[in-house]
Amino acid sequence: MPGIVVVGTQWGDEAKGKVTDFLAENADCVVRFNGGANAGHTVIVDGKVYKLRLVPSGVLHHKRLYIGNGVVVDPEILIQELNSLKKEGFKPDLRISDRAHVVFGFHKVIDGLQERFKGNLRAGTTMMGIGPVYSDKAARFGVRVADLLDRDVLEWKLNLLVDLAQRLIRDVYGGDQVLDKKQILQQALGFGESISGYICDVSAEVNEALDRGETVLFEGAQGTLLDLDHGLYPYGSSSSTVAGGACTGAGVGPTRIDEVLGVVKAYTSRVGAGPVPTELTDAVGERIRSVGHEFGTATGRPRRCGWLDLVPVKYSVRISGVSKLVVTKLDVLSGINPLKICVGYEADGRRLDSVPASLSLFAKCKPVYEEMEGWPEKVNWQRAVKEGYSGLPRQARAYLERIEDHVGLPITVISVGPERKDTIIINK
Ligand code: IMP
Repeated sequence: MPGIVVVGTQWGDEAKGKVTDFLAENADCVVRFNGGANAGHTVIVDGKVYKLRLVPSGVLHHKRLYIGNGVVVDPEILIQELNSLKKEGFKPDLRISDRAHVVFGFHKVIDGLQERFKGNLRAGTTMMGIGPVYSDKAARFGVRVADLLDRDVLEWKLNLLVDLAQRLIRDVYGGDQVLDKKQILQQALGFGESISGYICDVSAEVNEALDRGETVLFEGAQGTLLDLDHGLYPYGSSSSTVAGGACTGAGVGPTRIDEVLGVVKAYTSRVGAGPVPTELTDAVGERIRSVGHEFGTATGRPRRCGWLDLVPVKYSVRISGVSKLVVTKLDVLSGINPLKICVGYEADGRRLDSVPASLSLFAKCKPVYEEMEGWPEKVNWQRAVKEGYSGLPRQARAYLERIEDHVGLPITVISVGPERKDTIIINK
């Protein structure tokens, strides 16, 4: 006790990195369970910005860190990230699951070619090879981290995998990249050597930690609407971004999870393609993007911004069994008056209260808004941090209470600025 899962309830980028870092102070270890270097978790401490892609956000608190089997590991990016953290004076106490799958350069090539091939169905991926590596995993062609330490198995698997990748690139997608099997093998063996000290059976260690009564934080990447099963397929990612993903992606049973925190950004943002019912293409959307620094951490792409949409949030609460909410980036909405919150959709003359599976129906969904009074541009957020909830402007409290009412869950943490310290705890 306890296992706590942190998940995004929207389209990702809900500031889960900041939330996980904040919570990690009182945790023993932090476990990543899904996604890969497509994630970009930003943590800001005393003005210094740390951008994490694969290393769990507990690293800045010097906690024990795990990369679970559900993550896809790009060894080149991981090694770069570890080196830069070491340069900053951190000694990441990291373990990587021997069962996690490995991303190769050719996965990124195929990612780009597949996006071109998909036309209107392209998701606007991060080009990190995520879809192709999870495809190989599901088709049982994949290379796992443990294989990097076993030359025979690695050579045998890469023989097949590189042949397959080369045919896909050349014969299916018409690409001209030529893969060099020997070089890929040598590089993979080198990666294995570099990370061998970190490899272990993560499921065994995390379960032992829970047995000892340690606090284990499971750090989700992306958000519910990007989930492979429950997201806006095919405009999502290829992993399990919901709370259940923590079980399969870290090798723990559902009975080990005590709390699921659903992170809700105070407005909507989306990076990539597909319908976003509350998207604002006007000056308000532009203002939210610039005040909220809504540019992709992994890719730098401008994010599409809009009013808070509680339909996906409520849907996420159901899918993940969220027990408490965390609201982030409340400060970004300062000075916008009135504010709008979407509480349902209308399409084909009927009301919808949940996210439909049908793409064409979702594309037709028009938001049903409630208008809320905004709070002033200048707010003394530090006073609110000191005084707690009652120190927030009256209008901001009403906004938060409307979220609680509609979703039916309490808010436990509120983030009112990018720094770790800009955080209000409501209910410990
Ligand atoms: P992929 O995960 O790179 O395959 O991208 C699939 C979709 O998920 C694209 O629309 C991406 O923009 C989106 N995506 C992937 N990772 C993140 C993330 O960490 N935050 C927000 N969007 C993401």
